[in-house]
Amino acid sequence: MRPNRRELLSGMAGVSVSRALSLQGSGERGPVMVGSANALAGMKLTFEALVAGGEPLDAAIETVKVVEKDPNDQSVGLGGLPNEDGAVALDAACMHGPTHNSGAVAAIENILHPSEVARLVMERTDHCLIVGRGAYEFARMHGHPHTELLTEASRERWLRWKEGLSDVDDRLAPPPSNPNEGERHGSTPPLDGKRTAQGPGWDRPYGTIHCSVRSTRGEVACTTTTSGLAFKIPGRVGDSPIIGAGLYCDQEAGSAGSTGRGEAAILANGSFAIVELMRQGKAPLDAGMELLRRIERQVQRQARWQPALLDGDGKPAFSVKFYILGLDGAQAGVSLRGGGKYAVADAAGGPRHEELEALME
Ligand code: GLY
Repeated sequence: MRPNRRELLSGMAGVSVSRALSLQGSGERGPVMVGSANALAGMKLTFEALVAGGEPLDAAIETVKVVEKDPNDQSVGLGGLPNEDGAVALDAACMHGPTHNSGAVAAIENILHPSEVARLVMERTDHCLIVGRGAYEFARMHGHPHTELLTEASRERWLRWKEGLSDVDDRLAPPPSNPNEGERHGSTPPLDGKRTAQGPGWDRPYGTIHCSVRSTRGEVACTTTTSGLAFKIPGRVGDSPIIGAGLYCDQEAGSAGSTGRGEAAILANGSFAIVELMRQGKAPLDAGMELLRRIERQVQRQARWQPALLDGDGKPAFSVKFYILGLDGAQAGVSLRGGGKYAVADAAGGPRHEELEALME
């Protein structure tokens, strides 16, 4: 549903509304941003510069940095939920349509802005991906400070998960604050769910932020950044830093990126596949829904060896979401399971949330 004029104006606080609206009737293309719901706060800060002619990759990275440095978002950067060992290990990538180049870092620790380091990999090396200690040293070489990313809130949540993993080890969850809660000391259920009949911990958050951008010149760029699956096996890398999986853009076809279960996006090469479907003429929404139907069929086959991927109704027991931007400025947000919001900013409505199109409830 399009916002009315009042909503439009309040959503575009700080943006030159007349400039944005005038682009609609001019030879210039209106700028567009699309991304995960948590990108909205960043879009509100960066859309004005994009409207004024800013670079699309600048807008994308400045948008996600807002969440990377937010200690209260436990899915990305500072305050992100750690791996099994309690270390916050980050994945990030960026891609630039006009030069068809990309950069990425994976399993990087103690660096606040992995999206900026991904851009350095793209611009200051001949490589596409640097991981682990090498990525950390590379970031330090370029002046990024060593930063403790594990907040007290995230450490507490990790500890509760660890204490809840087994009832035959020696770790005990704290006694309930109300002695009438819980049956005995140590019986407090884990906060983040362990392996259950519903699947191997799908209720553990995957987090992530994605942002795709088209500039006033029609140039596209995108970035995805995450702390990945909460309490992951150390060294596990999700889709976010994998070009073609967690993000992809092509100056001939458009841009896409994902959040949610990274393994599904990797196995479908999801972002690349969506951009290819747009290249063949599909609108963003149609491309996204076709890819989700493909993932649904893939999961049915994967479930032959991993039945927990399906719920009791035989449907995928997880979700994955894609944010899609066509070269013409059309955009969509789609979700394998369940609705929710995604973030959009364009000349027609300014920065706002819109409803995801869900393949299944
Ligand atoms: N989509 C984020 C991850 O799976 O790590």
